[in-house]
Amino acid sequence: ESKERAKLLEAYELADKLYQYILHNTEQGKAAKQYLMGRGITGKLMETFGIGYAPSRWDTLVNLLDKKQFPLPLMEQGGLISAKQDGTGYVDKFRDRVMFPIRDWKGQTIAFGGRLMGDGQPKYLNSPESMLFHKSRTLYNLHASRPQIRKMQEIVLFEGYMDVIRSWDAGVTNGVATMGTALTPEHAEAIRRLAERVTVAYDGDNAGQSAAYKSIPLLENAGCQVKIAVIPGGMDPDEYIANHGSERFVREVIETAVPSIKYKLLYFRKNYRMQEDGERLRYIQQALRLIAGLTSPIEREHYVKDLTSEFRYSYDSAMQTLNEIRLQTEKNS
Ligand code: UTP
Ligand code: MN
Ligand code: MN
Ligand code: MN
Ligand code: MN
Repeated sequence: ESKERAKLLEAYELADKLYQYILHNTEQGKAAKQYLMGRGITGKLMETFGIGYAPSRWDTLVNLLDKKQFPLPLMEQGGLISAKQDGTGYVDKFRDRVMFPIRDWKGQTIAFGGRLMGDGQPKYLNSPESMLFHKSRTLYNLHASRPQIRKMQEIVLFEGYMDVIRSWDAGVTNGVATMGTALTPEHAEAIRRLAERVTVAYDGDNAGQSAAYKSIPLLENAGCQVKIAVIPGGMDPDEYIANHGSERFVREVIETAVPSIKYKLLYFRKNYRMQEDGERLRYIQQALRLIAGLTSPIEREHYVKDLTSEFRYSYDSAMQTLNEIRLQTEKNS
């Protein structure tokens, strides 16, 4: 088992180097390089993140692995190649894709995410679960961002590869990605072991915002202090940077991330028609229920003040309602 692991790691390292070589030094790599440049990825960033290109041939990696006498069934099990339907051999798993190596915390390549340059499905093909790669525990870019995360005691959580890379270029070097919106309790534990504070910077579309909302209890249960960065216009971090530049991204998205309670208050506000008295009152009741759940009295006071000054209700009556809610919940628990 540990021998197989070592062999597979060696193969991933070889594939990583091969794909990078093809991107930078071959004719086939040129279109991929153009594609990356067009998305604002400089040659230096390509190197920093080990980006490569898997060519469209069916046998580039298979042939190399075979020549170097790697056991092909193990390579298939490990997700680098696929068995042919008719059982006559193997073909490359990744073809005509821009390759993002996924590394473990030690910096060893354990999987790939491969992006199509045009339309088509899936947009990203990821390596399957293997003896090396467990998606539910892996945070993309953790190896490179760890020193800065430790130093700042803060981590920024993105959805995607491109978000991490372009944010890194914008100076956010404490970023990692969950590679999608499936944040797990294991991720949350891993995050908490490194840093106390988390800023969730998921995509600004509905899927991303709903995932950000759901990430709050997960991260808070692990003991993290959570902020949410809200990206206007349904954009993701990469698109925001492309449209508005790095400085505005840092200043207006990352640095203005709001504490989780504030995000929740904003998030479900969409469900109420605030011009109507009855709806507005229901919103305020719901808001007070959320605020009542805060453990710190100072925070409770702060958000009650915010709420009452915005809607011009008296602080005293809101506090009274809040205390009634707190008594109720104490009784029920
Ligand atoms: P998104 O759909 O937000 O893609 O998925 P993206 O990161 O913005 O991709 P670009 O900018 O179009 O290149 C977020 C992340 O979810 C994972 C990838 O890790 C992706 O970066 N994902 C997405 C997949 O694994 N497979 C997919 O087909 C799509
Ligand atoms: Mn396992
Ligand atoms: Mn998304
Ligand atoms: Mn996205
Ligand atoms: Mn994107």
